[in-house]
Amino acid sequence: MAKFLFIVISCFFFLAFQKGNQALTVTYTVTNRDPNSSGGIRFTNEVGINYTKQTLANSTNFIWAIFQQTADADKKQYTALNAFVENTTNGYIAYTVGNEIHLGTSYIQSYSGNIKTELTGILFHEATHVWQWFGNSSTPGGLIEGIADYVRLKAGYVVSNWAKNGQGTRWDEGYSVTARFLDYCNGLRNGFVAELNKKMRSGYSNNFFVELLGKTPDQLFVDYKAKYNNTA
Ligand SMILES: *[C@@H]1O[C@H](CO)[C@@H](O)[C@H](O)[C@H]1NC(C)=O
Ligand SMILES: *[C@@H]1O[C@H](CO)[C@@H](O)[C@H](O)[C@H]1NC(C)=O
Ligand SMILES: *[C@@H]1O[C@H](CO)[C@@H](O)[C@H](O)[C@H]1NC(C)=O
Ligand SMILES: *[C@@H]1O[C@H](CO)[C@@H](O)[C@H](O)[C@H]1NC(C)=O
Ligand SMILES: *[C@@H]1O[C@H](CO)[C@@H](O)[C@H](O)[C@H]1NC(C)=O
Repeated sequence: MAKFLFIVISCFFFLAFQKGNQALTVTYTVTNRDPNSSGGIRFTNEVGINYTKQTLANSTNFIWAIFQQTADADKKQYTALNAFVENTTNGYIAYTVGNEIHLGTSYIQSYSGNIKTELTGILFHEATHVWQWFGNSSTPGGLIEGIADYVRLKAGYVVSNWAKNGQGTRWDEGYSVTARFLDYCNGLRNGFVAELNKKMRSGYSNNFFVELLGKTPDQLFVDYKAKYNNTA
């Protein structure tokens, strides 16, 4: 009886242990809703559903690493990430709502370079919107877009028309300007972007920059531009 009880108890602990360490499992789906348009055909021929699914999985792991979210409790609790290739409203390049990414076929059709590389960069950006915190909707839009392009930058998918280091007029201008500024901030304190994102879980304040780096974002932007001799 004692032996039986021991086995039962150890099974219980084993199960509890397994459950506690179970990685958040995310299912990735990609649906081509516009397969017969020239953009939809180009997507099938030059990118493909399998490659896109793999890129979604890779970017998710990359984003969790950038955000230093090793415990599941630190992550957004989505168990699915769904992407749609479609004729987006107003021909939008791409946008994300919750855990759904939408990729526009008119952009895919008209893009003049390597569409596979371009879409990979776009997916790193859009997948960041799926997993980043929004400060209970109070984070400036420019910072949200800047973090998404910061991830794209770190993944190695910078585009030639991006702002260069030191360019831009405001720290929260968004996209590549803010991405490069955040890269500067992260250079001052390794893990800065991860810590900033953690703080944005339930709200937002510019004071987060002061708490982490001792200066306001405006002050840091002046320093950043001075570093690159671009004080305009
Ligand atoms: C695409 O074309 C095929 C073959 O003509 C057709 O069967 C299919 O319904 C079309 N799909 C869409 C979404 O229009
Ligand atoms: C995509 O992956 C599925 C499942 O792994 C496989 O059966 C299919 O052949 C792949 N398609 C292409 C175009 O590689
Ligand atoms: C995803 O990551 C794996 C492992 O690093 C790599 O082998 C694979 O090529 C990547 N796939 C894509 C689509 O980037
Ligand atoms: C995409 O949708 C717009 C209307 O929203 C329409 O005018 C256009 O013809 C559609 N394009 C394709 C390729 O279906
Ligand atoms: C988020 O903001 C709303 C509206 O301002 C507020 O009611 C709610 O308590 C906030 N939630 C958190 C977690 O701070």
